[in-house]
Amino acid sequence: MSAAAPLLNQALRERMDAARRRTDELFDLLKPDAIYTRPIAERHRLIFYLGHLEAFDWNQIARNALGVPSFQPEFDKLFEFGIDPPVGKAAEDRPSDWPSTSEVLAYNRRIRERIDALLDRAPEQIVHVALEHRLMHAETLAYLFHNLPYDQKIPPALALRKPDRQVQPAMIEIPRGEATLGQRTGEFGWDNEFAEHSVQVPGFAIGKYKVTNAQYLDFVRDGAPAPHFWIERHGEWLYRGMFAETPLPLNAPVYVTYQEASSYARWKGLSLPAETQFHRAAYATSRGDERHYPWGEAPPDASRGNFDFYHWDPMDVDSTPAGDSAFGVSQLLGNGWEWTSTPFAPFPGFEAFAFYPGYSKNFFDQEHYVLKGASPRTAACMLRRSFRNWFRANYPYVYAGFRVAEN
Ligand SMILES: [Fe+2]
Repeated sequence: MSAAAPLLNQALRERMDAARRRTDELFDLLKPDAIYTRPIAERHRLIFYLGHLEAFDWNQIARNALGVPSFQPEFDKLFEFGIDPPVGKAAEDRPSDWPSTSEVLAYNRRIRERIDALLDRAPEQIVHVALEHRLMHAETLAYLFHNLPYDQKIPPALALRKPDRQVQPAMIEIPRGEATLGQRTGEFGWDNEFAEHSVQVPGFAIGKYKVTNAQYLDFVRDGAPAPHFWIERHGEWLYRGMFAETPLPLNAPVYVTYQEASSYARWKGLSLPAETQFHRAAYATSRGDERHYPWGEAPPDASRGNFDFYHWDPMDVDSTPAGDSAFGVSQLLGNGWEWTSTPFAPFPGFEAFAFYPGYSKNFFDQEHYVLKGASPRTAACMLRRSFRNWFRANYPYVYAGFRVAEN
């Protein structure tokens, strides 16, 4: 990164405004009592996130990049970092340990004013980092809010689901060939996306569709535990939606943990695709070149997949054929992240960002696995080919499913 601060272009400033509106709208869904609750035991109380988004922007852009002195250092520190303890090991703070909502909102207002005044001096890379950090939280906040009782949320108007049609599972052959992983130098990416490199991938077969709730139901009926997103009521399985329980959407992707996904694959005598196999299925063509998106070069829109905040919950696995890859594999981007069999590890040439050294490095521990694709709540900018997500193998709250592969 060059030390010179380029004049920040208007487009980036507008994206920052749009991202702030996105996270503000999320907090508007909460009833006042909800802000001090902790809907997921392994994460902070929601009040933390109210301060965290602004504290992050302040710490990265104003304090670290531009050397601006703090006006409320105790909040800068309090709201600096999230937590990711092993499942079952929760923090033990109390609501009274946190400041009032009005104190946090006053801190936030002051930061936005100061950041807006500083933005033209800020290094562009850091502004990208702040922007994507906020949009990632727009997604992970949805996971947290998903686990709040329905009476603590204010639902928006929702479209009704169409009745289910039966999807026929199919396997698609992907021939051996090259896959390019990682981001090109000079383009924005997080540290774990570098360096760009090519790998040879042997031929394999992969599911045309993600595994559906109907398919996973067979596994549950054979004795497997039910996923976190399912609830049993009077002997029937319901889906735990964002704003209401619904009958189990049979042709929507099942959302599960890595452990559940890999057990299902084993039960079928199959496996999960590796990260490199996902790249081949998503971006390769029979001509030997690679695309930027599974469907080609056109920018993402709602016809290509269920991503970028159009919907709160999953759709049927065959509902967006315009997003199919060159080999005909559906929904590799959107409608739920996909677990890969690849532990999260650095690419050759990895260097941690000096201004955020723990962003990826803290998770190279063989306990987190790479997820590719996107969920309904993943922002369009993170649909780039090189983007990698990662979670613990038994973390059940992510909008993440899987498809099977055969080697
Ligand atoms: Fe964060």
